[in-house]
Parts: sequence; C-alpha cells; structure tokens
Amino acid sequence: MSTNHRPSCKLTAWQALETHYRKVSELPLRKLFSDDPKRGERLAVEAIGIYLDYSKHRITDETVKLLLQLAAASGLGDHIEAMFRGDKVNVTEGRAALHVALRAGKGQTMLVDGINVVPQVHAVLDKMAGFANRLRSGGWKGHTGKPIRNVVNIGIGGSDLGPVMAYEALRYYSQRGLTFRFVSNIDGTDFIEATHDLDAEETLFIITSKTFKTLETMTNAHSARDWILAALKSPDAVAKHFVAVSSNAQEVAKFGIDADHMFTFWDWVGGRYSMCSAIGLSTMVAIGPEHFRAMLDGFQQMDGHFRSAPFEQNLPVLMGLLAVWYNNFFGAETLAVLPYEQYLKRFPAYLQQLAMESNGKHVSTDGANVAHQTCPIYWGEVGSNGQHSFYQLLHQGTKLVPCDFIGFARPLNPLGRHHDLLLANMFAQAEALAFGKTSQELGREGVPAWQAPHKTFEGNRPSSTILVERLTPMALGKLVALYEHSVFTQGVIWGINSFDQWGVELGKELAMQILPELDGQSKGQSKQDSSTGALIQRYLTLKGQ
Ligand code: F6P
Repeated sequence: MSTNHRPSCKLTAWQALETHYRKVSELPLRKLFSDDPKRGERLAVEAIGIYLDYSKHRITDETVKLLLQLAAASGLGDHIEAMFRGDKVNVTEGRAALHVALRAGKGQTMLVDGINVVPQVHAVLDKMAGFANRLRSGGWKGHTGKPIRNVVNIGIGGSDLGPVMAYEALRYYSQRGLTFRFVSNIDGTDFIEATHDLDAEETLFIITSKTFKTLETMTNAHSARDWILAALKSPDAVAKHFVAVSSNAQEVAKFGIDADHMFTFWDWVGGRYSMCSAIGLSTMVAIGPEHFRAMLDGFQQMDGHFRSAPFEQNLPVLMGLLAVWYNNFFGAETLAVLPYEQYLKRFPAYLQQLAMESNGKHVSTDGANVAHQTCPIYWGEVGSNGQHSFYQLLHQGTKLVPCDFIGFARPLNPLGRHHDLLLANMFAQAEALAFGKTSQELGREGVPAWQAPHKTFEGNRPSSTILVERLTPMALGKLVALYEHSVFTQGVIWGINSFDQWGVELGKELAMQILPELDGQSKGQSKQDSSTGALIQRYLTLKGQ
C-alpha cells in the first residue's frame, strides 16, 4: 500500500459529490419520503443483529452511489485488507494496527512481521481469566489475608476510557460483590475520592498503561502505592495489591510489580483500540471471562462484516461515508451520539477519543497538508437527559448536527412503561428532527402568527437510528467495533493515519518545562511567553509563594 496519497478532494468521485451536493442539499426530507413511500425500509441495513436506519439522511440513491464510488476511489478495500493483513498501516510509527487480532478465535492466523500473534493473544486471555476467576471467587487475598473486594483501575486515555465505558455498559452483568473504581485524572481529587471509603486490606490496583510512563498514570500509581504502604505498613504488600497491564515489562519491574502479576500487550495495539486486550482486565474481572469472550465475539463478528460485506450493505462503511458527507460537503462541524440506554452513559466519551485522537489530523499520510476538513467533533449524552439540555439547539439552532440514535428493544431492567416511553422519545426525536413542523401546521393548531416562527421546526436535520435487540456483552462488542471501523473508513477517505497521536505530545513537553517554575525549583524570570509567564506568577501569588 502506497503512502503517497492523492488528495481526496482531487478525486473525480469527490468532485462529483460536490456537484451533486449543490443539487440535493436543499431537498426536504419530507419530499424524499413522500416521493418514495418505502424509503424508510429501503434505506436500512440489517447485519449481525444490528439494524441501521439511514433513511433520515439528506441523501438520494445517487448520493449513496457517489459515496461508494469515493470509497472505491480512495482504495478503501485495499486499506481494509492492509489493516487485517498486519501491514504497518500506522506509517508514522512504523507499526501495524492489528486490534482485530485481539478478538480472533483460537484457530485463526493473524500475522505481524510474519508471526502469528493469535496464540500470544490467547495466552494472555487465559492468564487474565485465571486471575479474574481467582479474584471473583475470593481466592486472591490481600496482604493481611482478607479477600479483595475493591478493584481500582488506574490509567488514562485508552487505558481508562475503554475499561470505564465497558464496566458501565455491562454493569448489569457484573459481580455486584466487587466494587470498581476508575482513576485517570492527575488531579489528586480523582484518587482521593475514588479511595476515601475503601479498605486498603481489600483493595487491588490495576495499573494500566501501554508505556508505563504516562505522567498521570504513574503519578496516581505512586500515590496508590503510598496509600497501600501507609495502611499496610509493609513493602511486601505491593505484590498482593498491585497488578500491571502494559507492553513495557522493564518499567513495570522498576515499579516493583513482578512479571507474574503483569499482563502484557503489544505495540500493534493502539491505546484507543485496546479495550479487547489486557487493558480490559477490569472488565473481565467485573463480568467474568465468559461474558468477556462474548464481547470479543461481538467485536469479531463486526470485524468479519466490515471485511467481507459489500460496501452498500456494510454498516461501518455506510456510517463512515455519511460522516464524510456531512463533514465535507455540508460543512457540519460535529456529530452527536445519543444512546437511549443509561448503561451507555460513557459511550460518547469513549467515542471522543476513538474518533478525535484517530482522525483529528491536518496532514495526510505523506505529510502534506490536507485541503479538506477531517474529523467532526464527536459528542453526546444519553437520552432522554440530552432532550432537556441541548436538543433545543439540535431542533431549532443554526447549526447542522447529524445525530446517531442508539436504542435497544428489550430493556435489561424492565420497569412499568419506562422502556416504551424511552424508545417512544428516541423515535420521536429522530422524526421531529427530520420532518419538523411547518407554520401552516401550526396555524391549523391555532398558534397565532406572531408566535409561529418560534414554534416552527424547519426539519431536514439528519440522523441515523441504530436498533439492537438487547444490550449484551456481544452487542457492546459489535457497537464499539462498528464505530472503530467507521472511524477507520473516514480516515481512509481523508488520506490520514488514524493510528498515531502526535498532537498530544507538545502539551506534555511544555508541562514538564513549566513544572519547575511552579514547585519552586527554578527561580527568576519565567522562560514562557508573557501570557503564560504572567499566569504562572499569578498562580504563585495566589497559592502564597
Ligand atoms: O493521550 C495520549 C495517549 O498516548 C493515548 O493514546 C493513550 O491511550 C493514553 O495516552 C495512555 O497511554 P498509556 O496507556 O501509555 O498510559
């Protein structure tokens, strides 16, 4: 696969979409639906238990055809194969991005540098299962002989967002006798609040960090060690109260965690693609190895679908192309993800890293500046809370915000009419966004003319609706993989490397330069710009130095 990328906007297919956009951008969804009574059934795909309704998008059959041509012209098929083949698709770091191997079945072969990595993956999964079972059964004892009841995951970014999202999403399936906490922020409050009511004798820390060098995680890990040592008064306690998940054995050993208590993963697993690796250890402890395997099977089913389904029926490809359509042709800046499922409350936050750390780039794989927009801002909130917060803007604001609604048919916690009410709201919101309400309709309802402009809904606000039978570990796996591959599809169209994250480095470097100025280790004139220097000075004054 060549890294020389023909700028996407120079592709004939892109230019055809620009022309097409001018023809269809003003077409009302009302008309598209009335001209084609079957549109709502026609523009939908069902695969591997996921139903995607994309009929409420500002598209025609021609749009879909042209978007599929764009995918073909961008070499999407070749890029998918390259990723699955273990090619070094992460060109700036010279690495494969083979997270799909993390969910491969035992007998499968997936190669990195000619070596089948699937046996290694399963060896780690087996080790994780042994640990998880021991902990869940009370067989893992703390330093004083008490069984562990509290598990605190310390990590950040991909080493936190996947575990916390999955824990919340699958809480229904979790062992309730165990308490799970997640510490990520370097703000001491995060650690203090997570541990203040925990008994150190019953608490185990999982330090999750691919590099085992991340400032936030290592600072929290050292505070955790101090906390354990202060309570248990013996350096031997570390062995019973800490395990590590990392790809850096040396740093783990330096911290004092022995190799038996380390769960490894590999440089071909990116942080934001790591929740199926040992980074998911807390998830496995919470839900048990069988449910964890079911989650991996869900991921794997979506991987297979992405790799083999024709693009016109390929869920991640269609979702990725629709994101490109709004981002690059309508100029939409954001994309809202709105799960009508309380257990998915951390899903939008998880997707933010997945999408924006992957595709928030302004250079293409060959280093040239892109001449088009890249990643939309992903954001969202569970329904129906969002309805009473920002939906006003979605319905009547001046911005176009494509939305993904996500709902499940069967509730995990049936309670009176709650679930039908929840889903009635989800369907209603998508309907209201698409079709709105005209001043004529308001007139017929007796709304006075002066008030009508305020009560009019112009409609034509696009959305996808994803409907799944039930939120199970397998369904979660499918959903996450759906977004992973949609993000990949978008990255391919934009010609960028979705697997590096250089944009997080500069701030880290500067923080380390600033630190000595804050803790009194460097005296005299600030080395920073005048604004930062003045802020540092004000900070020192306020804190009384
Ligand atoms: O935010 C940058 C980043 O490198 C992410 O990509 C990663 O998920 C996170 O930091 C944590 O890194 P680590 O697992 O090495 O601590």
